[in-house]
Amino acid sequence: MCGICAGISEKINIIQDVVSGLKKLDYRGYDSCGIGYIDEKQIKVVKAVGQIKNLEKKIQNLEAKIAIGHTRWATHGIVSEENSHPHISQDGKVCLVHNGIIENYENLKSKEVVYYSQTDTEVFANLIAQQQGEPLSKLRMACQKVVGSFAVAVLFEGHDEIYLAKRSSPLAVAVENGVVLASSDISVFAEKFKSCYILDDDEFCVLNSKNAIFFDKNGKKIEKNCVFLKNYDFFADKNNEKYFMLKEIKEQPMAIRKTYFEYFSKENKLDFELLKKFKRFHFVACGTAYHSCLIGAKYLKEICGKDAQVSLASEFRYEKNIYSKRCLYIFVSQSGETADTLACAKMIKDKGYKSLAVTNVPYCSLNNMCDFVLPTFAGKEIAVASTKAYTCQIFTLLIFAQMLANKSCEHIKKFALDFKIQNLREDVLQFIFQFKKIFFVGRGQDYVTSLEGALKLKEIAYLNCLGIAGGELKHGTLALVDEETLVIAISTQKGLKEKMENCIEEVRARGGKVLLVSQFEHNVKVDCKIVLPDFKEDFMPIISVVPLQLLALNFCLKLGYNPDKPRNLAKSVTVE
Ligand code: G6P
Repeated sequence: MCGICAGISEKINIIQDVVSGLKKLDYRGYDSCGIGYIDEKQIKVVKAVGQIKNLEKKIQNLEAKIAIGHTRWATHGIVSEENSHPHISQDGKVCLVHNGIIENYENLKSKEVVYYSQTDTEVFANLIAQQQGEPLSKLRMACQKVVGSFAVAVLFEGHDEIYLAKRSSPLAVAVENGVVLASSDISVFAEKFKSCYILDDDEFCVLNSKNAIFFDKNGKKIEKNCVFLKNYDFFADKNNEKYFMLKEIKEQPMAIRKTYFEYFSKENKLDFELLKKFKRFHFVACGTAYHSCLIGAKYLKEICGKDAQVSLASEFRYEKNIYSKRCLYIFVSQSGETADTLACAKMIKDKGYKSLAVTNVPYCSLNNMCDFVLPTFAGKEIAVASTKAYTCQIFTLLIFAQMLANKSCEHIKKFALDFKIQNLREDVLQFIFQFKKIFFVGRGQDYVTSLEGALKLKEIAYLNCLGIAGGELKHGTLALVDEETLVIAISTQKGLKEKMENCIEEVRARGGKVLLVSQFEHNVKVDCKIVLPDFKEDFMPIISVVPLQLLALNFCLKLGYNPDKPRNLAKSVTVE
C-alpha cells in the first residue's frame, strides 16, 4: 500500500512539506517511513521504523530543496529499516519511493546486484539504473519491463528533478507559488494549493523547481487539465475527541443528514432514470464496503424486485464467465482506491459493460473508471476501521433503491432527522469485557451486521471472533460454545424473532452467555441486553451497527491499543 510524497522548490526548505505530507498519508501504512533528498548533488537517505515522528527526530534541522518521502505498509519483507523506502540502486545513482507491488520482481533481479532488502522496490530501483539514456527514458524503459502496480517518485544523481511514473496506484501533482509537490492523495495539497493534476496510468511527469511536465507512455509531452480543489472536504481533525474513530462514530447522524440533503437538494443532478433500465445488479467490494453491499443487494431485491448479487472483489477478479451486458456492476469503496475493487472495475470497463461507483472520496480512481458515480457524504474518514463511511454507504444504497422503485423518500428524511447515537451503558461494557471468545449471530440483514460487528472487534481489539448466520450456528460453531463464550445476538426483524430465540436457546443450553441487541422484547432469558431505538426495519442495519462499533472501540481502549491505527492494517489497501 504505502503513501508517497515528493517535493521540489527553489524558495523553501521542502523537507517540512514532504514530512507534513507523509503525516497526512500515514493512513496508507505506518510500519516505517523514510526520506531521500539531494545534498550538494549527492543522494542521501534517512529512514525510521514506526511512525513519522520517529523520522522527524532523525531529520531535525535537515534542509533540502528536493526530496522524496514514503510511509510504508509492509508487503515484501519484514518491517525493518532495510526494507523501508527510499531504496537506492547498487551504483547509488537512482533513489526510489514506491507504492504498489512489482509482481515479476524475482525475474527482474540481476546476478550482478547484491540486494540489501527483501523488497520488490529495490529491484525496481536497480532495473531503472540498468537502463540506458536520460532519466526519463530509463524510467520509461524500466516501467515497460515491470508487471504490477506502481506510483513512484525517483531521484537521479546529478539531476535536480523528480521523476514520476504511475500504473494502477494513485499519484497527483500540484504546482503553486514556487512549490511543486507530488502525492498519493490530493488531500496533501489542501493547505497550499488551489488545484492539482491527477496522473493517469502509464503517464510520466518530471518535476522541476518551477513546473510539472507530463509525458505519455511513448515519452511524448502532453498537456493535462487541472482539478480544482475548492469543493473538497480535506480537513479532518479530532474535534476534541481523543481518537478519530470515536469522532467518526459520533459524526454518523450528521453524515446521514448531509447525505440526505445532498441527494434531495435541487442541485442534485444524478439521473436515476438512466439506472432504472437495468434489471440486474452485481455489487463488488472489499472489507466493510462488502458488508454494505450485502445490505444494498437486499434493498434492491426487496424494495425494487431486482435481481442482485454480491461478490468480494478479490474473488470476483478470478471468476469465469460471469459477465452480463444487461447488468449494472456496482463498486462500493470508501476510498475509491482499493486495488482489488479497481481491478474488477477495469475488467468490467474493458468488457464494455456499465458500472456505478459508490465512493466517499471525490476524484478517486474508481470514479474515473466507472460510468456513473453515487457519492456518499460521510466526510473524510481517517480511522482505519470504517464506521461513518459504512453507515453512509448503506443509507445511500437505500436512497438508490427507493429512487429506482419510484417510492417516496419521506420516511428516509424522517430517519435522517431522528437518528441519534446512544452511548453504551457501563454495565454492558463491564459485562462484555469478561470475554475473550465472542461470536456475533444474526439472520438476514442482522447476519450482515454480525459480520461487521465481528470485523470491527477483530480489526481494533485483535480478538478472535466470528460473525455467523443464526441458522448455521448448529452446523459447526456451536461446538465451540462453552461457559466462557459470549454470543452477541442481533435481532431487528420481527419476522425472524422466533428463529433468533431458537439460536439463543441453543447457546444457553451449552452454558454460553448471550448479549441481545434488539429494539423489541424476546421470549427468552438473556444475560445482558442493548435496547435499540425502534425504526422501520430497513434502517436497522444502520442503527444496530453503532453499539457494535462502540463496543469494539471500548474493548480496544480497555486493552490499551490505538483504535485509529490497528497493527498490520491500513486504511487504503492499494495492493492486491
Ligand atoms: C481496508 C480498510 C477497511 C475497508 C477496506 C475496503 O481493509 O481497513 O476499513 O473497509 O479496506 O476499503 P474501501 O476504501 O474500498 O472501502
